[in-house]
Amino acid sequence: MPCRVGGRPKAAPDGEPRPLRGGVGASTNKSMAENGLSSRMVKRDLADQAATERLAQILAGRVRRGDVIGLGGDLGAGKTTFARAFIHARAGGLKEDVPSPTFTLAQIYDLPGFAIWHFDLYRLQKAEDAVELGIEEAFAEGVSLIEWPGRLGHWLPKDRLDILLTQGKNPDARHVVMMGHGSWAQRLEDLDAEADLDG
Ligand SMILES: Nc1ncnc2c1ncn2[C@@H]1O[C@H](COP(=O)(O)OP(=O)(O)OP(=O)(O)O)[C@@H](O)[C@H]1O
Ligand SMILES: [Mg+2]
Repeated sequence: MPCRVGGRPKAAPDGEPRPLRGGVGASTNKSMAENGLSSRMVKRDLADQAATERLAQILAGRVRRGDVIGLGGDLGAGKTTFARAFIHARAGGLKEDVPSPTFTLAQIYDLPGFAIWHFDLYRLQKAEDAVELGIEEAFAEGVSLIEWPGRLGHWLPKDRLDILLTQGKNPDARHVVMMGHGSWAQRLEDLDAEADLDG
């Protein structure tokens, strides 16, 4: 069974998240198609861990119930670091304990508005085993942050935001590719236009 943790913090996140600093080499590709759904890609360089955390904070301010965010990248790429900053932001700045769900596979945070389900599916044996983790409730009622989303196979919703983190030019730098599918194509375009991703 997934582990449900965290109390209800006093307040939801209020103002605008801080802008992302240190982004260089930004680029954007428009309109691709995946299974008949429109997609959009946005790329950024993240100079350091704080830049990864700021991106997470910006996205935390824009999610709504039912959203699914896939977190891709190799071991140590920064998926849990991103999820931790995202959950902290949704917790109104309270420093919830956000352990990696390496062994529990799922951690649930009951936060104002909706629960955040943080999955690490690296050790998932079969995609259908995710049902026992509560993936259907997560997709219907919460916001899902999914490390190793490919493990879900056809259970992975087509309407989602994919975030792929890869190593950057130095040990603390990362490159991020965001792919918005379905409704996220337009939402990612809006984010790119409205949020100061470059700082
Ligand atoms: N720019 C950065 N963004 C994210 N993490 C960074 C960055 N620079 C350094 N780090 C460090 O890289 C490590 C990332 O570890 P993390 O557990 O987040 O990776 P992960 O992708 O979740 O790995 P796993 O696949 O094992 O779950 C942390 O120690 C973090 O402090
Ligand atoms: Mg992790």
